[in-house]
Amino acid sequence: MHTIRFDGKKPGSADCEQEISLLAASTKAEVPLPHRCGGHARCGTCIVTIVDGSEYLSEMGVAESRVLKVLKAQPDQRLACQAWARGAVSCTY
Ligand code: FES
Repeated sequence: MHTIRFDGKKPGSADCEQEISLLAASTKAEVPLPHRCGGHARCGTCIVTIVDGSEYLSEMGVAESRVLKVLKAQPDQRLACQAWARGAVSCTY
């Protein structure tokens, strides 16, 4: 089991048994992470900053990379709907 932690307006955490997207983990943690496009890598509203555990995240895909480039995101930022965690991850939103 691994824990996904969110720090932001409403902090929370979710204990997860399997690989899970950060967006799904935020729902499980009852953290109100915006996700206007419904998790399709189009809106960028689910952007998070990874504080710890980036080594446990899935590789960045083309769609996510494109949105982050448009947003001029920092290297430690990911789209929660596209980043899947297989270990403990902490992020801010
Ligand atoms: S929910 Fe729209 S990009 Fe993640």
